[in-house]
Amino acid sequence: MKNCPDWLNESIFYEVYPQSFLDTNGDGIGDLQGVIEKLDYIQSLGCNAIWLNPCFVSPFGDAGYDVSDYRKVDERFGSNRDLVRLFNEAHKRGMKVTLDLVAGHTSIEHPWFKASAQPEENKYSNWYIWTDSAWTESTAETPLIRGFSDRNAAYMPNYFYFQPALNFGFEEPDPDKPWQLPTDHPDVMAVREEMKDIMRFWMDLGADGFRVDMAASLVKSDPEMKGTIAFWQDVRAMFDTEYPDCVLIAEWSFPKHALQAGFHMDFMIHFNTEAYTALFRDEHKRDGFGTPGTLYGDSFFDRSGKGDVTRFLRHYTEHFEATRELGYISLPTGNHDLTRVRCHRSMAELKVIYAFLWSMPGIPYLYYGDEIGMSYIPGLPSKEGGFGRVGSRTPMQWDESRNAGFSTAKAEKLYLPLDPSKKRPTVSEQEEKPTSLLNHVRALSALRREYPALGADGDFKVVYGKKGRYPLVFLRQLGEQKILVAINPSAEKCTIPLAKKYSQLDVLKKSGVKVEQVDRKTELVMSGVSFALFLIHA
Ligand code: NOJ
Repeated sequence: MKNCPDWLNESIFYEVYPQSFLDTNGDGIGDLQGVIEKLDYIQSLGCNAIWLNPCFVSPFGDAGYDVSDYRKVDERFGSNRDLVRLFNEAHKRGMKVTLDLVAGHTSIEHPWFKASAQPEENKYSNWYIWTDSAWTESTAETPLIRGFSDRNAAYMPNYFYFQPALNFGFEEPDPDKPWQLPTDHPDVMAVREEMKDIMRFWMDLGADGFRVDMAASLVKSDPEMKGTIAFWQDVRAMFDTEYPDCVLIAEWSFPKHALQAGFHMDFMIHFNTEAYTALFRDEHKRDGFGTPGTLYGDSFFDRSGKGDVTRFLRHYTEHFEATRELGYISLPTGNHDLTRVRCHRSMAELKVIYAFLWSMPGIPYLYYGDEIGMSYIPGLPSKEGGFGRVGSRTPMQWDESRNAGFSTAKAEKLYLPLDPSKKRPTVSEQEEKPTSLLNHVRALSALRREYPALGADGDFKVVYGKKGRYPLVFLRQLGEQKILVAINPSAEKCTIPLAKKYSQLDVLKKSGVKVEQVDRKTELVMSGVSFALFLIHA
């Protein structure tokens, strides 16, 4: 049995990018009070947990992923007191709130970094990775920024140049480079303990855990991830003894490592394997907005029908089997780094994707606005280090009022412009329509709760999933309960025979699918862009 907090396996998460969710003080930027005011809405989607993107003090060179005070909410969002109110208001409703922990790097504005950049040795000199000369050249493993300050050394960034890597040590330090400190060096240990104390600080105030940014990036020269895994196992031990009801969620995208490291859950997203991209992120290629190193091909969820679901299944089943006793895998609808799943797709196609995601083991994650099918807005100027990513971070579209109900500020003061389309989807319009995407999400969340076989812990077995072929059919099972899920994202009709054991089917939810009896054999007839969930009789 998994050693996870009880609430986790029943959770459906909602990711809030706070800048763009709801602005309650008219400054054009979303705030924590806005999240509080929308808790009932989030809950109405069937979501009972939140991942809040960074909300701490920051110069916002990378939308808050460049923290300059880990213990203080940035004033653009409110105050620590507001964040505690958010925890309390969520808890009153039986909901959870997880924060974004940027463990691997800070901003260059962080006082620790400013101190470490001083030529005089001080407590923080080794808190970041500095070489022993300003002239040290970068290598593929150790990219370096030179000439930053009068310290005669170069520092290692973890992402953008203004995000210097905190020093979690080197698993295999190069003996010729004494500046590469081992993982048990006292200064490295001090950084590690500080990061744990930051987590304690927020969990003591009511946070329910963390999504950890770039969780695999901490220990350097760590080809097998041994050092990074050991660090997180230590953090997990702290959770198990001090905060057993809190969760650790990784941005690692390699569940076999992340769950071994003690994370309760890992996202399978657009890097490390092609699994996620093969499902529905081929649009990167078409938009020229992609992540270097990502493998591209034809998505399975594409009307063209040119995808290959085995590119997903191969990796997914390997990681699922290896980790199912430890924790969960999440396949999110999207996130603040990816093109919106709506990109190039109709609402009907999104319904098929969500039917798939809400029927998979592990934990569903809904990126704000994906429930109404918000679009990716191409061509916006970059904001706060977003570059192509800003098209997925535009203000939430609540209703038909000014600024789509996001803010009362003048349009030019908004954090990012709204989707300019006259036909942009809104929550209020979709609330009214029983067949809307919004209500589809609600129905799927309700089904997932009603039928535990569909949920986080059920078995997953592919019934039909062939190279280059459609549909995908799989079985979910928990105890005696068995559910058959059939998914056809292609525009082409397809028909497949079903084994006798699948001949007694009750429809739970479907669109465009028929079960036919031909010559005493059962066939599943699926029109283009269709899905079905069936309860199987014993
Ligand atoms: C991953 C985050 O999701 C992304 O938004 C950020 O830019 C990088 N990590 C750097 O922290």
